[in-house]
Amino acid sequence: MKYGLAQKFSEIYHKEAQHAYFSPGRVNLIGEHIDYNGGLVMPAAITFGTYLLISTNQDNVFRFKSLNFDENPEITLKDGYEKDGDGWYNFPLGVINHFLKDGHKLGGLDLLFFGDIPIGAGLSSSASIEVVMAYALNDLFNGGYTKLELVKIAKSVENNFIGMNCGIMDQFAVAFGEKDKAIVLNCDTLKYDIVPSNLGDYVLAIINTNKSRKLVESKYNERVEECQAALKALNQELSINYLCDIDTATFNLHKNLIADEVVRKRAQHVVEENDRVKLAADTLAANDLIGFGKLMYASHDSLRDLYEVSGKELDTVVEYAKTNPHVAGARMTGAGFGGCAIALVKHDEFENFSQELNTYYTAKIGYAPSVYQSLIGIGVGTLSLNSEA
Ligand code: GLA
Repeated sequence: MKYGLAQKFSEIYHKEAQHAYFSPGRVNLIGEHIDYNGGLVMPAAITFGTYLLISTNQDNVFRFKSLNFDENPEITLKDGYEKDGDGWYNFPLGVINHFLKDGHKLGGLDLLFFGDIPIGAGLSSSASIEVVMAYALNDLFNGGYTKLELVKIAKSVENNFIGMNCGIMDQFAVAFGEKDKAIVLNCDTLKYDIVPSNLGDYVLAIINTNKSRKLVESKYNERVEECQAALKALNQELSINYLCDIDTATFNLHKNLIADEVVRKRAQHVVEENDRVKLAADTLAANDLIGFGKLMYASHDSLRDLYEVSGKELDTVVEYAKTNPHVAGARMTGAGFGGCAIALVKHDEFENFSQELNTYYTAKIGYAPSVYQSLIGIGVGTLSLNSEA
């Protein structure tokens, strides 16, 4: 198996793994901080993600082992669990808890996780681990859930067990991703289109700012609350379920109902970003990468100025991108507050882009970013323990 994981499993547990699974991470091309506002988003699964190898045990214990983290607890099978500190294993433990609470009879498991996705960098490492665990439990214990139900379980774990009030985009993208395709997902109806991510002469760069994302959960939940406050204010006259139920023109007619200036700015971002995604889907379909790139820049500016979830590091990446004529567009991706940006870069210029950005960023920030060329990969699934894939 890739990374010699089957071998590593045998070394750790002194027996063979019986099952292997993989769930990717994701990038979001455009449509940021609007999934929890019933908006339209455009994520794609990437080829980096989380590997999970499993063997059942007769000891009624869950052995959590990760090649990425030092904490490797053994947790006895009980009727249910609560979040235990900030350890990584809370994500799979939350999924186990959900299955137990839903009445599934589980047995002991020896688990080996490995992520080749930069962890905590805004590429949905947490959704990836939740979804791979949910998929595995469903497979091993005949849970009978559909893929969409597994997505909803993973989101519920994030909301109710972990305490991050995220929307559904990340879990959906890592479950439903397809190779070389983006997903245009309506987060209200959950209707979606799989569209070719045909980037022509361009490639998608992922730039990890290598800034650790502090306070993501609390700031994120604060934004969710601000959106709820905006919705309530607008509903003094309107009758909408989500901010994204109205377009920019309608918002402008009613925005004075929102007394708090900060809350008004947040809502303006949400409504305009939703309109941008509609335009972005059209530009992508028309192979207008320059048009798509302009919308990416506009999205970033709005996240920086109106939604205030960017930061010096992400802004520096985008600032450099704007000086490079071979870049069509760039923006932060994911929750923000550090983490990753993405850029559409001319294929032949990728190396130069990477080097120049490295120099520019390091001079301003004091340390280097990590730049990857991103490939769009498939969603969650089973792996063969004997193949190299
Ligand atoms: C995080 C959340 C998602 C989404 C993005 C911002 O990744 O998990 O639900 O809100 O932030 O678009």
